[in-house]
Amino acid sequence: MKEIDWKSLGFGFSETNGHIQYVWKDGAWDRGELVKEPYLKMHIGASCLHYGQECFEGMKVFACKDGKIRAFRPQANAARMQRTAVRTVMPPVPEEMFLDALKRVVNANRDYVPPYGTGGSMYIRPLLIGTGPQIGVAPAHEYTFIIMVMPVGNYYKGGIKPVRCVIYDNWDRAAPQGMGDVKVGGNYAASLFAHETAKKNGWPVELYLDAKTHQYVEEFSTSNFIGIKPDGTYVTPDSPSVLPSVTNDTLRTIAADLGQKVEVRKIPFEEIETFSEVAACGTAVVVTPVWEITRGDKVIKICEPDAVGPHLRRLHDTVQDIQYGRIPDTHGWCYEL
Ligand code: COI
Repeated sequence: MKEIDWKSLGFGFSETNGHIQYVWKDGAWDRGELVKEPYLKMHIGASCLHYGQECFEGMKVFACKDGKIRAFRPQANAARMQRTAVRTVMPPVPEEMFLDALKRVVNANRDYVPPYGTGGSMYIRPLLIGTGPQIGVAPAHEYTFIIMVMPVGNYYKGGIKPVRCVIYDNWDRAAPQGMGDVKVGGNYAASLFAHETAKKNGWPVELYLDAKTHQYVEEFSTSNFIGIKPDGTYVTPDSPSVLPSVTNDTLRTIAADLGQKVEVRKIPFEEIETFSEVAACGTAVVVTPVWEITRGDKVIKICEPDAVGPHLRRLHDTVQDIQYGRIPDTHGWCYEL
């Protein structure tokens, strides 16, 4: 194993002891195997390649203060992947198999879990893909489920450092009755062009409005949207085309525990200026504050570029304290491996 500089990890692929692979054929999953090489041999007619029959998940594993290794809410990811599998006509991975795969692959890669105190975590990427050939448009007859793992640090450079964001009115992420509420690669492919354009112009992330009316806030390309009112009210969009984020659900629960009012409802674009704090939230980005939002000629300044608002700071620190086992896990979110 190559020596890893844990403190300077970013968010990217790195070699480990391998991933785990299961195949579904003739109506059943096999027992799965650990595979060293990060490659997959598949039929060139695989439905994931031609018709995008695929979905994925993102979650994290932490080396905790007490020396144990725990995954954060893996059952929630297993459930979301099952919902996505139904929507994309793939065989849902049973929760038991999902958790067993997680244990096996993390156990094979314990040396790659960033040690407690380094600020890193192990990113877990489950992937379900149609690997059977299917040239007429139809679901495949064979599927592969993979969990790959990698040690990661912050998604955006600089830790909990506010970012600027942009709204484009000429590109949408997900159709009103499309697939925005499930975790398919197509949602990310739909945002790539806008995402690269935004990055080239100095915005690390773009925010989407609802595709039908462009009146309501939906989510960022990478993560959910949170707005905090000056009185501490936590507001997040209610929309059928937003991904139900496990992190957002977690933060809403923490906010309520901390005495903040929580509202899940439509957020008109105009309301953004009334927020004293805004953030992107998700497994990879955790809680990333947004200090400025640009739409055409309009620039909304939420806060100073270096300011992390008190509510976001407290939410960020609380979720991380639970994940690293520094405070009691009163909701039973952490799953020992
Ligand atoms: C995650 O937060 O885990 C995701 O899957 C989002 C992706 C942009 C990294």
